[in-house]
Amino acid sequence: MAFPITRLRRLRKKEALRAMVRENHVSLDDLIMPLFVCPGEGVKNPISSMPDNYQMSVDVIVEECKELVQLGVRSVLFFGIPESKDEDGTVACQHNGIVQQALRAIRSVSELDELYLIVDVCNCEYTTHGHCGTIVDGDVHNDLTIETLAAQSVSLVKSGADMIAPSDMMDGRVGRIREELDLAGFSNTPIMAYSAKYASGFYGPFREAAESAPSFGDRRTYQMDPANSDEAMREIELDIQEGADIVMVKPALSYLDVIRRTKDKFNIPIAAYNVSGEYSMVKAAGKLGWIDEDRVMKEVLLSIKRAGADIIISYHTKHFARLLSSSNK
Ligand code: PBG
Repeated sequence: MAFPITRLRRLRKKEALRAMVRENHVSLDDLIMPLFVCPGEGVKNPISSMPDNYQMSVDVIVEECKELVQLGVRSVLFFGIPESKDEDGTVACQHNGIVQQALRAIRSVSELDELYLIVDVCNCEYTTHGHCGTIVDGDVHNDLTIETLAAQSVSLVKSGADMIAPSDMMDGRVGRIREELDLAGFSNTPIMAYSAKYASGFYGPFREAAESAPSFGDRRTYQMDPANSDEAMREIELDIQEGADIVMVKPALSYLDVIRRTKDKFNIPIAAYNVSGEYSMVKAAGKLGWIDEDRVMKEVLLSIKRAGADIIISYHTKHFARLLSSSNK
């Protein structure tokens, strides 16, 4: 029935009613906080392009995790900044690798038992050239790279990782990692695949944070063309066939249509990565007084849920948790 019988404004009259008919919510159950772990002791280096985010040494990360848990954050995602790098990123597979050390340190603290530890698996932070794998003839060699990724995954799970999140965009890596994890006795460790990961300008600030900018060329021979979304469906379908437990779309905000297509087409949990550039734009405009930062942050997270994501990886997580805990007081 059309106007004047139907008036949609009736349901917007009071907040209690708006809350009753609200279709989507963001909760701390959905959010994952990324963390950058670096060598040293007592190190907490601010990342200039990502306000309120830091490169932290293992001891500082442990304290940070305690604070996050107290705020109600349930899951973190680790990136490593290693002491030294090599040609094919094998430093990432060492028992004493930087992320491995952080995982063991956290697993030894009983108050952090419930914190869910996810690790980004990729070579770009660990190679001298900053590409995501082994270079042969000027490009990343797919089949050599998936071997190092599988080894890296097993090493990280041995050190205490709860879940593996490969972000490299090599073909066949989910299947290869699944195979190695199963062989090593970790058939119950889930894989969250960065399935539709685009070659995006929105990763700019992250490359400062993780010291992983490629020294030549770019990542367009392995990450997806931002113009494509049918291809994203193929990437996701393949990752599911290879054994991915959760699929991811990344970045989130310029790709909300891809999240929605994934939701409509597949029956699997979907993660979305609210990446560094998306975060920093909100922080910068907030600092300039051009937008209400808290309000925009909540709207951004909600838009990702509404598009169809079940899980959101976001640098806003800690601040979102703080806002929630102060409003509950
Ligand atoms: C590693 C990786 C990147 C991000 C997550 N994992 C960088 C890249 O692909 O260049 C980006 C995250 C962000 O921008 O927040 N391959």
